[in-house]
Amino acid sequence: MPEILPSILSADFARLGGELQALEAAGCRTVHLDVMDGHFVPNLTIGPPVIESLRKVTKMTFDVHLMITDPDRYAPAFIQAGADHVLVHQETCPHLDRTLRMIQSEGARAGVVINPATPVAMLEDVLDVVDSVLVMSVNPGFGGQSFLHNSLNKIRRLAMRKRECGLQFPIEIDGGITMENVAEVVRAGAEWIVAGSSIFHTVNPPAAFQQMQRLAHDAAAIRV
Ligand code: DX5
Ligand code: ZN
Repeated sequence: MPEILPSILSADFARLGGELQALEAAGCRTVHLDVMDGHFVPNLTIGPPVIESLRKVTKMTFDVHLMITDPDRYAPAFIQAGADHVLVHQETCPHLDRTLRMIQSEGARAGVVINPATPVAMLEDVLDVVDSVLVMSVNPGFGGQSFLHNSLNKIRRLAMRKRECGLQFPIEIDGGITMENVAEVVRAGAEWIVAGSSIFHTVNPPAAFQQMQRLAHDAAAIRV
């Protein structure tokens, strides 16, 4: 069953703990945390101390998306702070296989992310190592951008390779997901769906989460 992962990038940072607890009470199991360094992407967000504080107020799984130039240097600190999944960009990892294995040996699940301009083929030789693959459907750095349609082809290609190779990693998508397009990304093969502004820029984020989760489940039920 597909899962919606709310991205806190669009949440009210003055009351992050409360926002997470409300989502957890609404049935949310995994939350997506965006880490930006002002270098790999033109924006800055949070570091390990924020994750460590949030770890104390929720049991939800933390899916930590590192948009930073040197993930090898910082991944262990994020894992120590409480990251369950650590996602690194293919574009930032010259030794991607080594980076993924290092994350796993530090005790987290290792995910890999590709930008809109990076083809799925770049991941061919790590598909049997990764614990998840995230296809960016916007250029990373900001919430609230428009969905890039080519990401659907990438999701389909990835789903096909996954089937052909008999692999199990979840396929994740991030950026520009709305109530209108969530069914389409699920039908293409996305299983973990990150959504920021469509959830937090509403009057009732837990209700928006539940509505999107329902739309995703309905789409999966008729995908078969
Ligand atoms: C963008 C981040 C996303 C962002 C998505 O670089 O990786 O996780 O929060 O936000 P929306 O859902 O508003 O596009
Ligand atoms: Zn993200």
